[in-house]
Amino acid sequence: MFLVRPQKRRKRNEMKLVGAIQISNNSFFVCKNRNGVLSLRTGKEEKLQKAIVQRMIELNPSIKRMLEDYKIKPTIDTKTLKELAGGHMNETCRVAVGIYSILSENLKKNIKEETIKEASMLHDLGKVLIPSKILNKPAKLNPKEREIMNIHSTLGYELLKTQKINEETLDLIKYHHQNLIHSGYPALNCDHHPSDIGVQIISTADKYSALREARVYRRKLSRIESLLVLYKEVREGKILPEIFDAIVEYARRFDK
Ligand SMILES: [Fe+2]
Ligand SMILES: [Fe+2]
Repeated sequence: MFLVRPQKRRKRNEMKLVGAIQISNNSFFVCKNRNGVLSLRTGKEEKLQKAIVQRMIELNPSIKRMLEDYKIKPTIDTKTLKELAGGHMNETCRVAVGIYSILSENLKKNIKEETIKEASMLHDLGKVLIPSKILNKPAKLNPKEREIMNIHSTLGYELLKTQKINEETLDLIKYHHQNLIHSGYPALNCDHHPSDIGVQIISTADKYSALREARVYRRKLSRIESLLVLYKEVREGKILPEIFDAIVEYARRFDK
């Protein structure tokens, strides 16, 4: 559950967002009309989705700085948010929870299922600020575009840092493109290390669900093709063999 602090000023005749609450997978926005009457609205409403992301940006000046550094206009792409929340992030959550349930107790003893659930549900939130011409480019990204695309995990972390979300979940969101040999992004901070097993669960679930979805630049891969891509990463030392075994078992049992 996360809350957004009230805004100070509001115009007449306007329904104002005063907070947000997340229950299971559904977002509800707490709104106040000009007479001070509070109401709960569904998170599916585009105007409110924009308002909540806008509020997250206002609460953390480093987001503005990042957008300026990369010359990104701070526009909020709610179509992307809707697609991500209803599709890819939801599916990644399903796969991540599946991997978690198959892993041995010893391997997952330091990470809670709730953390895995929350991080996978929110892992790509930062993409809401990535220009859609980069996000939906039907061809290979050039180096500059790739650089911009790769900040989505840090942007997601910065957006959610202002919310009541625990550090471990935030770490997993920030490092969901890291791997076991630490050649992913963003670079790891030497003083602070996220849970390797947590990152492995989220990142492997993310890759598998992405490979199983069609993209503008490629078709949807089959179950076997997707597992082969992941196996290559096991051989490169990027994915833990136990995580790979768990995803093979997940695919056999649940991905028909
Ligand atoms: Fe991502
Ligand atoms: Fe993702």
